[in-house]
Amino acid sequence: MNSPTESPLIQRPEDLDKLLVDDVNNGQFKVHRDLYRDPALFELELKHVFESNWVFLAHETQIPEPHDYLNVHIARQPVLIMRDGDGNLGAFLNICPHKGALVCQNESGNKKFHVCPYHGWTFNSAGENKLIKDREQGQYTADFDSLSHGLTRLASLENYRGFLFGSLNPDVEPLRDYLDGIHHFLDMIIDQSPDGAEVIPGRSYYTFDANWKMQLENCVDAYHLTSTHPSFMTITASRASGGSEFRNIDIADFVNPDVPAGNYTFRNGHNAIWIDGNPEVKPLYAQYDELVERVGKIKADLMMKTVNFTVFPNLQFSVNACIQMRVMKPLEVDKTEMRSFCVGPKGEPKELRKQRIHQFEDFFNPTGLATPDDSKVYESVQYGLAAHSASASGLGHERGIRNVIQGPDDYAIELGLNPATSSSGGSELQDETVFHASYREIVERMKSGIAQELDHAK
Ligand code: FES
Ligand SMILES: [Fe+2]
Repeated sequence: MNSPTESPLIQRPEDLDKLLVDDVNNGQFKVHRDLYRDPALFELELKHVFESNWVFLAHETQIPEPHDYLNVHIARQPVLIMRDGDGNLGAFLNICPHKGALVCQNESGNKKFHVCPYHGWTFNSAGENKLIKDREQGQYTADFDSLSHGLTRLASLENYRGFLFGSLNPDVEPLRDYLDGIHHFLDMIIDQSPDGAEVIPGRSYYTFDANWKMQLENCVDAYHLTSTHPSFMTITASRASGGSEFRNIDIADFVNPDVPAGNYTFRNGHNAIWIDGNPEVKPLYAQYDELVERVGKIKADLMMKTVNFTVFPNLQFSVNACIQMRVMKPLEVDKTEMRSFCVGPKGEPKELRKQRIHQFEDFFNPTGLATPDDSKVYESVQYGLAAHSASASGLGHERGIRNVIQGPDDYAIELGLNPATSSSGGSELQDETVFHASYREIVERMKSGIAQELDHAK
């Protein structure tokens, strides 16, 4: 019988039981340290979390024209997403069917043909093989000639209102179902303009030496802000008291217990947090009345809040003054690449777009006020996790545990959401129960993946 993993310690689904202490009724939710530091578990995550289900690839505005292409990934699998001559989208493994070289080595661009750098096989923007170099002299058989030799098409590719998701698995649930209630939060970004959202040209790619789940957590971790980002807090306080004309997020949002805040978790590991903000600092605020008219007051008011959310497993948004889109790419158990983009409503007036980009650079760039602090803390946690002398039994995610309810709260009902769990209160709650859904999903996918492999091996 084949083993489901190379680790002698992980052979059956029950071997993963130690990873979570999930006992919310008794106030406990703990994650085992090995989930951040064990290479065998990392391999299982790649296989059963990333390579077996939907993963975000790109936004269609990153490849708007016929023959545009973009190099992306499903975990460590290279994927080439491109438009053919008629503008149709296709996603392919960026791996030459001859001997496996990366066919397209550039990050993005526009090409009718992609020529493999090794032996020159050539593929068009529809992924078809158009040339096998020196084919006539090659003494190939009729069988060889009858095969297509094109790039391997991804098993699944779907477009949710411009957001493109792919999977290596042909047997995934329809994307809209997979997204569950988190699609409302994508809609919140898309509906900011009648023409939808766009990725603003430019990007930052950077790495940190820590497990990808540090980022997964941090995006929806309201608890860390006042302690991890002291320089940001000082600067925003100074700006708020007249030190500068420029404002991004007001410090009062995060320290005033009277400011309403909350979070939701959804099926499939998605989650979102919200906090009432200072709408007047948003470029979008100038269009508030138009938004109320077009999408209704409830949705327009959500657009004015600070909202962070995860489309599990690899896509996150931070929506405060501006909108940051982050794509996570796990490289090793303790190394992660981040891809960061600024998103805005299409057709935004020039001055507001300038303000948006300025705010993005100020806060979200790798050189901005927040990102270096976060990366440093992730690396510090990873360092601590490597200490085998420390208790391995669990990292607590218990803040707010008495407050969480099953199903929708009043605000969710108002928004038309049907989350798995809700939690709301003042901003000081800074709830950690929002992480539970993602961890449950990770462990559940690994367990069912192992069970399936054992089943197939019988
Ligand atoms: S590996 Fe691509 S042509 Fe040989
Ligand atoms: Fe942070």
